[in-house]
Formats: sequence, structure tokens, C-alpha cells
Amino acid sequence: MALGSDMYRQQILDHYKNPRNYGELEDPTFTHIGENPMCGDEIRIDVKLADDEETIQQVAFTGDGCAISQASASMLSSDLQGKTIAELQEMDRDDIIDMLGVDISPMRVKCAVLAEKVAQDGAEIYQGELEKAKTTTED
Ligand code: FES
Repeated sequence: MALGSDMYRQQILDHYKNPRNYGELEDPTFTHIGENPMCGDEIRIDVKLADDEETIQQVAFTGDGCAISQASASMLSSDLQGKTIAELQEMDRDDIIDMLGVDISPMRVKCAVLAEKVAQDGAEIYQGELEKAKTTTED
């Protein structure tokens, strides 16, 4: 058990230090920004959809924040490629915590879910179902 969570901790640190898909897309289908109001940390996510307008082809993110928020954005950016918008919308905090593989204290859950909420709100705004300038983890 201890070994397993050590491995996950290493993985979180690796994603934090070497974030995957870090940057901006040249021609995103949609872009959205959100923040964790507890600390002011922000994440911006760019998503490029395939021609079917459903399948996520490419994801990029930029952000500033703690290891948990940045590692989960990095992991999510890889995980989402090839998924559909519907699959993104079905994700919940348990999926993100499973992805991170470590116990997250209630305070840190907001860090963990920030990227997921930004991507989900971005998709909803794109689909015209949500009007929002900026996502926060308060919602
Ligand atoms: Fe700011 Fe984690 S402390 S997102």
C-alpha cells in the first residue's frame, strides 16, 4: 500500500515538474480559464475537437499553482485526448482522485478538480449551455 502511494506521489511530482501538453493551442475549438478562489491559482485549458465536433483531439493547458492542481491538469490533458465531450462531462471528482491515486484532504480537493471543472465548463459554454466568464471551484 505504502509502495503504491509512493509511486503515485512520484507520478504527481513528475507531472508537476514536467507537465504534459503545457502551452496553448494555435487553433482551439474552445478555451476556458478558471481559478481556485482559496488561493487564486489559475488554469487555462485549450481544447481542439475533431471534425465530428464531439471527439477531443488535442488539449493544452497553462497555469500557476500547487503540485496537485498542475499535476491533475497535466494528467487530465493526456487522459482527455480521444475522449468525447460527453465522456468529459460524465467525469466527477472521484475520477480525478482515482487518476491522482493519493488521498486528498477536503481542502486540496479544490486543487485536484480545478482543471476538470475548467474543461467541463469550457465544453458547456461551447455547447451554449452555460454562460460564464470564469470558472471557480466554489461552484
Ligand atoms: Fe492553489 Fe492548490 S493551492 S490550486
